[in-house]
Amino acid sequence: NHMTQNELKEAVGRAAVAYVPENCIVGVGTGSTINYFIDALAEIKGQIKGAVSSSEASLLRLKSHGIPVFDLNTIDDLPVYIDGADEINHQLQMIKGGGAALTREKIIAAVAGQFICICDESKLVDVLGNFPLPVEVIPMARSYVARELVKLGGHPAYREGVLTDNGNIIIDVHGLSISQATVLEAQINQIVGVVTNGLFAHRRADVLLLGTANGVKTIK
Ligand code: A5P
Repeated sequence: NHMTQNELKEAVGRAAVAYVPENCIVGVGTGSTINYFIDALAEIKGQIKGAVSSSEASLLRLKSHGIPVFDLNTIDDLPVYIDGADEINHQLQMIKGGGAALTREKIIAAVAGQFICICDESKLVDVLGNFPLPVEVIPMARSYVARELVKLGGHPAYREGVLTDNGNIIIDVHGLSISQATVLEAQINQIVGVVTNGLFAHRRADVLLLGTANGVKTIK
């Protein structure tokens, strides 16, 4: 059984559709795995009201399928948010933001009733931090925030040429071995000039749909 990584992503993207209640507005994340979810969602678009999107890229893809996209401030119920991750551990804590959409992702995740994470098995790790931790920063605070991140034990790298959908910059923090994710998440949020960091530990996933060579595994 030799499924490619894209086939694993497609399988979890399709499996996630089962978590979308009828007649609801669904929260939609960002990335190559989510693109498969959006394409599968299009097949049942008559059964949902629409979506809220965590990025301009996902918004365009949703609209290209004729799925209505709502402003988060205009809706009063968001039962489920479906998104990928760059790393996820066995406690379902994640590193996200490889696609620079972390702030909008975190806002939608905070609002949603359930967070369903979809990814292929390469994303599952014992300890978070091998994937550099993205931090969204107000541009004028870049050097200050980088110095503070060094004090926390990381090696910050400015992601050159990237502006977020909110007009800010991204610093990727290398060299972290994250044993206490909720603590580090809060510490980084305390640095003035930080908008958000890519640790989703305070608000982790409720369900992980993991694409493996032996099928889609459900981890709660
Ligand atoms: C976007 O900012 C990230 O949080 C994505 O969720 C993450 O990069 C997953 O993308 P892939 O599905 O392409 O790996």
